[in-house]
Amino acid sequence: MGSIPLSDSDIQEVIIVGAGISGINAAYRFQDANPGRRYTILEARSNIGGTWDLFKYPGIRSDSDLHTFGYAFKEWTGPDIAEAKYIVEYLENVVQENHIKERIRFNTKVVSADFSTEDRAWSVKVETNGRPETLRSRFVFLATGYYDYSSGLKAEIPGIHNFGGRVVHPQFWDLEPKDYRDKRVVVIGSGATAITLIPSMADETKSITMLQRSPSYIVALPKHDPFASLCRAILPASWASKLIRQKNIARIYASYHFMRRFPNVARRYLRFATKKLLPKNIPLDPHFKPRYNPWDQRLCICPDGDFYETLRSGKASIVTGEIEEVTQSSIRLKSGETLDADVIVTATGLKMQIGGSVDVSVDGETVKPNQRFVWRGSMLEGVPNLALFIGYTNASWTLGSDCTAHFMVRLMAKMDKEGKSMVVPRLESRESIKEAPLINLNSTYVQKASENLPKASSEGPWRLRTNYWYDLIQAKYGGLQGLTFA
Ligand SMILES: Cc1cc2nc3c(=O)[nH]c(=O)nc-3n(C[C@H](O)[C@H](O)[C@H](O)COP(=O)(O)OP(=O)(O)OC[C@H]3O[C@@H](n4cnc5c(N)ncnc54)[C@H](O)[C@@H]3O)c2cc1C
Ligand SMILES: *[C@@H]1O[C@H](CO)[C@@H](O)[C@H](O)[C@H]1NC(C)=O
Ligand SMILES: *[C@@H]1O[C@H](CO)[C@@H](O)[C@H](O)[C@H]1NC(C)=O
Repeated sequence: MGSIPLSDSDIQEVIIVGAGISGINAAYRFQDANPGRRYTILEARSNIGGTWDLFKYPGIRSDSDLHTFGYAFKEWTGPDIAEAKYIVEYLENVVQENHIKERIRFNTKVVSADFSTEDRAWSVKVETNGRPETLRSRFVFLATGYYDYSSGLKAEIPGIHNFGGRVVHPQFWDLEPKDYRDKRVVVIGSGATAITLIPSMADETKSITMLQRSPSYIVALPKHDPFASLCRAILPASWASKLIRQKNIARIYASYHFMRRFPNVARRYLRFATKKLLPKNIPLDPHFKPRYNPWDQRLCICPDGDFYETLRSGKASIVTGEIEEVTQSSIRLKSGETLDADVIVTATGLKMQIGGSVDVSVDGETVKPNQRFVWRGSMLEGVPNLALFIGYTNASWTLGSDCTAHFMVRLMAKMDKEGKSMVVPRLESRESIKEAPLINLNSTYVQKASENLPKASSEGPWRLRTNYWYDLIQAKYGGLQGLTFA
């Protein structure tokens, strides 16, 4: 097994950072291929699930279908779009059934990781309930998601400190229904979170208003896919779930590429579909006329059109405009309009972060991720034995992070066979490579983060990944150009 100094009995094969949906998938793939080998999952929080355990706002749910957002190896039997608690329940079953739970160390935050080329091993500094400790492993898998758990995106809302009522950010939700019952609520934002919050809170509030600076595309999809119902009626459960999964992978791919290829047709169609769902008193222009093309930013999904239904019922309203200033009890807009409020929800987004604030270094030299290219969406240039579990943003995230898991399992098997102990992606020439963004969305939160993110290229193994089928074949059988083994 390579040239690892095996005298060190404390060395783990892999340390996985993060027990979210990607970390658990990585653990499953690793142990499936390497039964009996030692690995540990380090999780800063006290529960599994990452995103799906952290967010507590009313109605919190996925907007991907769970057949593709869930695992290839564990069928999903619920509705296409699911609330967070069902996603955590599903993950809980997976970690129990596969004995992954025993491998998780909770309340353990990874602070730094230094790779020693001489030892061919990582020294991983952690804090368990504040107590420092150093662990060692051959590989580190960073499955830390894509945003900062400790702070949200700072939205510059002028005068927000003047406000006398409650201000809450969805990532740090601390309201109970009694805190907004019969209150006037303003939700600032127009993304997936605002679209979810409004139908979920509207029955309780006195009034609820979505205040947006600029509109998004909001697509109504059926909660129960008729194709899925049909498959389940006529096929054995495991076949049905495989078929539904493949169909959804294809549907997402086809609709993405159709919309990018024919943006004007897509735009017109989305407007037409939206118009049918709106009440007479809410005009399409300006509230539902985004300034960008579909998929420049993520489309928002509302199951069974629940968001539109809430607008039609008159329980919620929508205002498009810019904030001049927040006062003690209201929000004054540049248009002169004033919105009275008791509660303000700032659904203004996430603070993106790749690598979960872990300080990575190689032989003591700090790695600045934003100066590195990403090899096949999976490894950082110049950093040995390190995997990044990032997923797709225009399809289910998990499909992308599963490709990374397959890559790593394959690389490790190859290294064992050939007696190697180090794998590192290297750029042939830094001068000639063309840079491209790592995340192909124009959303504000992506733009704000772009200078801190690692880089992709438009060429070779440094290109963005494309689709699950292609990337999975790449991961299992594709060329390994760009990698050096030692
Ligand atoms: C409200 C919301 C809805 C979303 N809906 C969708 C959707 O429908 N479809 C989709 O594809 N994506 C969606 N996403 C994106 C979503 O975050 C990912 O798809 C997915 O949950 C990411 O899983 P993950 O395991 O990679 O990361 P996360 O779920 O973010 O988990 C990362 C884990 O790593 C831990 N961690 C981080 N840093 C450290 C450290 N230094 N030490 C120890 N542990 C650490 C965290 O505590 C966390 O448990 C959504 C995101 C949000 C916020
Ligand atoms: C996501 O976007 C990339 C780049 O635009 C594209 O190549 C890829 O096929 C898209 N993925 C899906 C599933 O549509
Ligand atoms: C983002 O915006 C630029 C122009 O501002 C445009 O060329 C590009 O296609 C947009 N979309 C994406 C996904 O980057």
